[in-house]
Amino acid sequence: MNVLGIETSCDETGIAIYSTGKGIIAESLYSQIELHREYGGVVPELASRDHIRRTLPMIDEILRENDLAANDIDAIAYTAGPGLVGALLVGASVAKSLALAWGVPSIGIHHMEGHLVAALLAEDAPKYPFIALLVSGGHTQLMACHQAHQYELLGESQDDAAGEAFDKAAKMLGLPYPGGPCIAEIAEQGTPGRFKFPRPMTNKPGLDFSFSGLKTFTLNTVNGLKGQSGRDLSSQEKADVAFAFQEAVVDTIRIKCERAMEQTGLDRLILAGGVSANTELRARLDDSARKHHRQVYYPPLHLCTDNGAMIAYAGYLRLQHGHQESLSIDVRPRWPMTELNRD
Ligand code: KG4
Ligand code: ZN
Repeated sequence: MNVLGIETSCDETGIAIYSTGKGIIAESLYSQIELHREYGGVVPELASRDHIRRTLPMIDEILRENDLAANDIDAIAYTAGPGLVGALLVGASVAKSLALAWGVPSIGIHHMEGHLVAALLAEDAPKYPFIALLVSGGHTQLMACHQAHQYELLGESQDDAAGEAFDKAAKMLGLPYPGGPCIAEIAEQGTPGRFKFPRPMTNKPGLDFSFSGLKTFTLNTVNGLKGQSGRDLSSQEKADVAFAFQEAVVDTIRIKCERAMEQTGLDRLILAGGVSANTELRARLDDSARKHHRQVYYPPLHLCTDNGAMIAYAGYLRLQHGHQESLSIDVRPRWPMTELNRD
């Protein structure tokens, strides 16, 4: 069975094909980062227009490059939410139209379920049950996953998502969008111990997160360095702030993950979403797993951020479980993942 995956929820057009027994056999990704860079963030209308321009030509190209024809595709999976409504509608409309034309089923996928199953595409994929930490630009959630398609929300961010906090801190340091990889890069030159940022919500019990205070702390630190003259920060100062910021986010996440595992007794942790590409986060969680004799799993690096492969695979898994839907086009810009639970 070959499943075509279409991801258009934000600023990446991702197309991929998952094939039974073979895995991901074709992938193509177009990032709109350059298009949005001058605005310092994603402009929804521009995102939708660009997805419209690219989605069909990319599908045509991926089929041709892999010597596949329309009748080699057995089902189409697309991101149905959460995300930007206009961007989601592009992927959904293309998917449903092709499904009608080709006479195959289509299936709407929850974007965060896509991120989660990307970790199951790794060579040493974990078995259920496990804890999932979903950390992206829009979400920070800890889930207990006892079996496929069943999600128990243990905790989530009360304000900014981890990736969003990276993006905002980067902006304060004059770094381009998306901020996560830029902060991670300059933090490598940072001086450990120069600044000590807070670890929000770690002193009280519970598994929720809050990153907006860290954002304010970063702004105050930056303004303090600028002083009354408002001068620009030196590259060393920027690196030191980036180091302290990243260290605080990573440490906060590590503490909450350890707490979630203690609380549930589960000993496998999987990471997913854009922030799971962060090298420092992976290193600290690896240390923690070794220390506590637990296992931690990550998606292949190129599948941490948005892509079509995770949607194709999530579609395949849902079809295996007999999931079906009609041809009517329905997207969910907001969509709690726990609504996916089977009764
Ligand atoms: O999962 P994703 O591609 O899109 C959403 O679903 O939101 O995540 C994008 C987020 C951005 O906020 C970006 O800054 C962050 O992931 N990110 C990183 C890294 N790579 C991407 N954050 C920290 N370190 C990274 N290496
Ligand atoms: Zn994403």
